[in-house]
Amino acid sequence: MTVVNYRSEADVVVLEIDYPPVNALSHPVREGLLEGLRKAGADPLVKAIVIAGAQGTFPAGADLNEMASGLVLKAPITREVQAQMEATPKPVVAAIAGTALGGGFELALACHWRIAATSAKVGLPEVKLGLIPGAGGTQRFTRLAGPEAALDALTSGTHIPAPRALELGLVDALADDVVVEAIAFARRAAQEDKPLRIVSDAADRITGVSPELFAAFRKKIQAKARGQLAPFRIIDSIEAACTQPKEAAFRIEREGFLECRDSPQRKALVHVFFAEREARKIPDVSSDIKPLPIRKAVVIGAGTMGGGIAMNFANAGIPVALLELSREALDRGLGLIQKNYAASVARGSLTQARVDEALSLIHGITDYGAAADADIVVEAVFEDMKVKREVFEKLDGVAAPHAILATNTSTLDIDAIAAATSRPEKVVGTHFFSPANVMKLLENVRGKHTAPQTIATVMALGKRLSKVVVLAGNCDGFIGNRMLQFYSGEAEFLLEEGATPEQIDRVIEGFGFAMGPLAVRDLAGNDVGFMIRKSRRIPADERWSPILQRLVEQGRLGQKTGKGFYRYEGRTRIPDPEVLSLIERVSSELGIRRRAIADQEILERLLHPLVNEGAKIVDEGIAIRAGDIDVVYVNGYGFPAFRGGPMFWAEEIGLANVVETMRRLAPSHGTRWRPAALLERLAASGEGWNSLGKNA
Ligand code: NAI
Repeated sequence: MTVVNYRSEADVVVLEIDYPPVNALSHPVREGLLEGLRKAGADPLVKAIVIAGAQGTFPAGADLNEMASGLVLKAPITREVQAQMEATPKPVVAAIAGTALGGGFELALACHWRIAATSAKVGLPEVKLGLIPGAGGTQRFTRLAGPEAALDALTSGTHIPAPRALELGLVDALADDVVVEAIAFARRAAQEDKPLRIVSDAADRITGVSPELFAAFRKKIQAKARGQLAPFRIIDSIEAACTQPKEAAFRIEREGFLECRDSPQRKALVHVFFAEREARKIPDVSSDIKPLPIRKAVVIGAGTMGGGIAMNFANAGIPVALLELSREALDRGLGLIQKNYAASVARGSLTQARVDEALSLIHGITDYGAAADADIVVEAVFEDMKVKREVFEKLDGVAAPHAILATNTSTLDIDAIAAATSRPEKVVGTHFFSPANVMKLLENVRGKHTAPQTIATVMALGKRLSKVVVLAGNCDGFIGNRMLQFYSGEAEFLLEEGATPEQIDRVIEGFGFAMGPLAVRDLAGNDVGFMIRKSRRIPADERWSPILQRLVEQGRLGQKTGKGFYRYEGRTRIPDPEVLSLIERVSSELGIRRRAIADQEILERLLHPLVNEGAKIVDEGIAIRAGDIDVVYVNGYGFPAFRGGPMFWAEEIGLANVVETMRRLAPSHGTRWRPAALLERLAASGEGWNSLGKNA
């Protein structure tokens, strides 16, 4: 099978990689390229070589399956192909269309010149998989674009649009018909006998770089990249490009690559990558079922969530009407949307033109009549069953028969909401996360009667809104919030026993969460947390810690009142002795003797209950697979992606450890804290989540 076509255009040879779907740099591609380069190099009639990709794209990366399966790549590896390119005494030009990412872009960087389609994107996103570019990417990128640009692009893994790549010096020209232009460029270079540009020798961007730059950058990303290996190895490698001889610098990249490749973080991030793709597949919703087209949306309630949800639709180019009870509430909501967009422009994440376009798609309304021509209505009114049912009853009367009626409820029973309509098959949960215009997760929730097409539509909608989408079953709290109560509940039990808020948050943040559980409570508002807690039914043998309620009673609602579990100066949290005495009072009332609690105990007691409830959720079929839970926690709850999500992490540390913690907690905590039957079974047999067969 030929996967690299050898085509002569007079005196220029085009090596066209044709390996669907994305021309990944798999073994046959590397082999074909090497062979083609040798053949063209040896043929005296060939004056120049162009490397291009069929299916409208340059190679979009390495072959992840090949990498995941043992990681020892079969020769020739990419570096051998690159060495052949650099050793070819004729111009080698990359014709970049589509996306040239990872190994694909590293291949292009080893060509003498690069021509990119105006619409193309390039980048080295290896960091997202816990890796660093291992085929000279850190070196050549830095030599072309300079260390500042390399540090930003490689530690974030962003895709760079071709015009920006041109500005940065990563590509040499833009073109509409990229292969034609690349052929002309290569031929000209040969005719003019242009000195071949060996990128790995280009030195002007790496000379005279201040060594301070790297120390400052390490400090800058410290908070965001805490605990992660790859971003710091990338910095080391870029620094080496600027300070070490070429061979030594390439060796440092290589060593960093191998270290990352063999690290558990790489394994965890690759797991998340595949789990996010897997989560889109719903076994009982056939891929033949076509999602309904969404041409117009209505969002009901312009509060915290409704406004953000409307922004999602507008950003995706879908006209959206925002419905409120009164003109005042509407103006407040629309004002907040404008403020959010203005902040994006100020930050540079959106252009004013993009914002104007989005804002032109958002309209405020106060009359349900306008919902008549919507393809989907997303309800985001108060979390109150009576109010929600009234809204759905009204909607049922006005919405078009085909329209999907979705609710953003975070805990309420989807079936009870659906029962307020005559079309429960059209009713579904679309649970966005706050702030909805920022958070990546969309947890869709199916009710008993939700039709497969309704599910297919909200899954496709999530993708269109650039969300990571998971489907949950209907239960109190669905996947994410149902698990969370055990984690945050346990944090307060630990406070009663002797921990302090700062110790708990430090341990969890040290594990890699962006924020610890008590800092999160203060951010979300302790009154809100307390209200949700009150609405939950728990068995008689179980209790909540009274600490949260006491804080609320003292007006310590969190950041919004300047004090909660901490006291705040601006957004800076400061441990507050008053809180400690409040906690100590609770301990003494409960007759608990406070003790020193080790960090490891804190970690286990917070995370193991999360996993335990996750196992029940898998067993009950609320989550289709354990990986879906990881996707929810990584994208919606700040669980560090480099740990792979709670379920993956638990399997890495051994499920038996989780069972053991739960056995310890259950007697004092109540029935819901018992070890999950599934977990006990897997722990006993030594099997993992994959043995359940749902991941296949
Ligand atoms: P919010 O209180 O900020 O906003 C609710 C809005 O709905 C208010 O502006 C209110 O005027 C409006 N409203 C009430 N009844 C209405 C009606 N009959 N017709 C039209 N508008 C009406 O509440 P928030 O926080 O935005 O929550 C909305 C929903 O989203 C709730 O179900 C909540 O559980 C859920 N949710 C909230 C999250 C959060 O972090 N705030 C996260 C995920 C879900």
